[in-house]
Amino acid sequence: MALLRSAVWSALESHKQEVEKLHLRELFKGDTNRFEQFSIQWGSLMLDYSKNRITSRTIDLLLDLARSVELEKKRDGMFAGEAINSTENRAVLHTALRRPSGYSLEIDGLDLSSEIGDVLRQMKDCCERVISGIWKGYTGKRMTDVVNIGIGGSDLGPCMVTEALRPFAHGCLQVHFVSNIDGTHISETLKKLNPETTLFIIASKTFTTQETLTNAMCAREWFLTNAVDQSHIAKHFVAVSTNRSKVVEFGIDEANMFRFWDWVGGRYSLWSSIGLSIALFLGFDCFQELLNGAYAMDEHFCNEPLEGNIPVVLALLGVWYNNFFDVSSHAVIPYDQYLHRFPAYLQQLDMESNGKRVDKQGSTVEHATGPVIWGEPGTNSQHAFFQLLHQSPNFIPADFIVPLKTQNPIGEHHDILLANCFAQTEALMKGKNEQEVRQELEAASVEHSELEMLLPHKVFPGNRPTNTILLNELTPFTLGSLIAMYEHKVFVQGVIWGVNSFDQWGVELGKQLAKAIFPEIQGDITVSGHDSSTNALINAYREARIK
Ligand code: F6P
Repeated sequence: MALLRSAVWSALESHKQEVEKLHLRELFKGDTNRFEQFSIQWGSLMLDYSKNRITSRTIDLLLDLARSVELEKKRDGMFAGEAINSTENRAVLHTALRRPSGYSLEIDGLDLSSEIGDVLRQMKDCCERVISGIWKGYTGKRMTDVVNIGIGGSDLGPCMVTEALRPFAHGCLQVHFVSNIDGTHISETLKKLNPETTLFIIASKTFTTQETLTNAMCAREWFLTNAVDQSHIAKHFVAVSTNRSKVVEFGIDEANMFRFWDWVGGRYSLWSSIGLSIALFLGFDCFQELLNGAYAMDEHFCNEPLEGNIPVVLALLGVWYNNFFDVSSHAVIPYDQYLHRFPAYLQQLDMESNGKRVDKQGSTVEHATGPVIWGEPGTNSQHAFFQLLHQSPNFIPADFIVPLKTQNPIGEHHDILLANCFAQTEALMKGKNEQEVRQELEAASVEHSELEMLLPHKVFPGNRPTNTILLNELTPFTLGSLIAMYEHKVFVQGVIWGVNSFDQWGVELGKQLAKAIFPEIQGDITVSGHDSSTNALINAYREARIK
């Protein structure tokens, strides 16, 4: 593959041999302006990437790499509606969803600005009617609960956003998310609800997803057990989909369908009518602010030169570790409890987008295409997996996401939270060497043999890279920017790796096999057509379910 044999790739490989020998502690000591050099302030968001294993030469070379793959041209192509999702022959235009109306862009003969405007008005109208109580249930009561039934992109984004922005909710509606086909998820949710005052959103781009349709049928049965009359469904079920005929087939009135389009990828769809649960929970104005924040980041991504461009810099740092240090893991640690679903959301965004084994031309890639993304909020994560971050033989880069202002200013909580956050990135960067540990133990009068025994255990190698992303405050606007920032980071990495970040064929095989196994599980015959392991597992379950 050309990328690996390019001059810039080779230059990065030899440069890595030099950087590998450097320690961040020494780099900070040797340059008091390191923070100024490697940080970007953009509005109320600041990226501090100075605690990375880089020099200015690293950044120069990585920027050369970005230019060598014509990043800016490809970015402009995406925004202009080129069919960059080549295996599905589709444009990728989630960015159009947050663009202020009045622009001119046509796809398949449709004027996007007016199409999107129509759906936004429909969403706004629905929000106003439901929140004000004009929208009434079958017994004349106002809605108190909204249940979003969807999975993957039709769940993770809205679920993460509603959790993140809980303090902005108007409080007239509670929102619930049912995604898993495990019957526990819907059962536990329905237990808390009253059918007279519950509105279900069936959210599925394709309206063919087994989990969503099975849960939707279950919700429908539960509702009809109480409401009896089928005509009441119209007051309690709405659908969000690109598939009109399947929605109608399911029994949802076309008037209650919120459409979107195939040029909106599932994991990029929270900005579309898939965000209806967000708009209902927070109010439409907040949803609009989320869109505005994302649009501001789009503008930054499109107009800022590459060296000051936050998503570009984050993407290049990821490439640096993933491809040149062979690091295959990346942690995301929000220091904000409201962001507790953020890592889960990012997992789909990043790993479903770039976890690909072939490039756009179908040739096998010869390099990694992205790390495993994972994480948990601080400080909980400090008491769970930070041991490994600090002292495992291999390093794992991490993003620390930190709002300066808390939504819950009680006692000294926020000061303690942020002290911990800053301490962790300092500790990961600096570490503690043998000499320091020795001094510490001697100062504590630890006896010689015990000191020698403890010494290696108490050494921290440091030199462990982190990015800190400071937000002034977690608001609909800043959250919109943060999400768009990661979307564009993923896009940039996909361009560098030459993969199609917008398809997801890798989820199909498991779905296909599950369809074949499902009737076998329910059948009368001992299963023998698979490998011995799969046969045994299926048969063990068949026997258990008969008993
Ligand atoms: O997991 C595969 C996937 O196709 C995701 O890309 C998508 O977000 C999810 O399933 C749900 O799909 P749908 O919205 O069509 O139900």
